[in-house]
Amino acid sequence: MPHYHTLGQIPRKRHVTFRRPDGGLYAEQLVSTEGFSDLYSLVYHCAPPTQVLKIDTPYSVSPEIADSDNMQQRLFRGFDIAPADDYLESRIPVLVNSDCHISLASPRQSMNDYFFKNSGADEMVFVHRGDGVLRTIYGNIPFRPGDHLVIPRGVIYQFTFSSADNRLFIVEAPQPLRFPKRYMNRAGQLLEHSPFYERDIRKPEKLETHDEKGDFLVKIKRDGRIWPYHHATHPFDLIGWDGFHYPYALSIHDFEPITGRLHMPPPIHQTFENPGFVMCAFVPRLYDYHPESIPTPYNHSNVDSDEVLYYVDGDFMSRNNIKPGNITLHPKGIVHGPHPGTVERSLGAKETKEYAVMVDTFKPLMITKQAFELEDPEYYRSWIEK
Ligand SMILES: [Fe+2]
Repeated sequence: MPHYHTLGQIPRKRHVTFRRPDGGLYAEQLVSTEGFSDLYSLVYHCAPPTQVLKIDTPYSVSPEIADSDNMQQRLFRGFDIAPADDYLESRIPVLVNSDCHISLASPRQSMNDYFFKNSGADEMVFVHRGDGVLRTIYGNIPFRPGDHLVIPRGVIYQFTFSSADNRLFIVEAPQPLRFPKRYMNRAGQLLEHSPFYERDIRKPEKLETHDEKGDFLVKIKRDGRIWPYHHATHPFDLIGWDGFHYPYALSIHDFEPITGRLHMPPPIHQTFENPGFVMCAFVPRLYDYHPESIPTPYNHSNVDSDEVLYYVDGDFMSRNNIKPGNITLHPKGIVHGPHPGTVERSLGAKETKEYAVMVDTFKPLMITKQAFELEDPEYYRSWIEK
């Protein structure tokens, strides 16, 4: 987990008077997780954040499930999703279960007239294309391609994009998204064998403090609904905060690969863990250096997890006809492996330039109606040798 961080002004002790220049009190808020038992932050608002003007009619954003019982290898051409001006409207759920929702998004415009808060899930937004600034109540995080933006539940945010060409791969997790336990010591510090380090975790900077009153629309998502809340105070009105619960960025370009003489299994590439799934990042690396090693992965079947790969960039050595933006789904119990010709082609290769993000879920994934519009129906036959 990210370590203690603080921005702006905070009082010397928690839960004591903390006065504004005009003599009034700043409003302290405890943001806590797992009740009061896990990570938390104490944030200080210019005005009480509890002032709700009205709540508009909530509306459904539940995924439309087209196949809840999939047992077929699938390929979805993710870049075929249509861009949309609005960030929330651009988010298209493709693969879902009760532990994670995987969506694709291609928003064209920055969020100017509303804020967003996911109250039901942590979010991991992988930035495939696009750059800009993730603005949050905890401060701003400039982002660029390759960033995993981890936004814990409850964080109010806005995306400001530098251009209209943005491609995002989003994982929503109702249970907390954490770094793998084996990467950390008892104090939570990332150990020497971890492929990334505290210096690679980009924390919020440049706290915006808007001491403003008005009508501020915060679209709040919980489960399958959006609740349009109108707040009387600007959501970004913190004078300061401290704690462990805040958004951060981890770039795939800062992930240092671990290599070996023979093929290393996917846990070597792990970035995050969750009770319902694991995530990995595949990055450019030297191939296995045993003189007789086979660089491509072996055939394998995940007997207890569905495997999702999102292809980002480079040449995918074990695959034919895979393009950036593609998503493959290999359901549990079904064998898959290198495509015809790729094993021989890989022999003697010294390195790979591939980038990909993997999500392995322990429960089966359901496929949405929109995902089938992106599907290559011939994919499951792509291993036939000709
Ligand atoms: Fe696999």
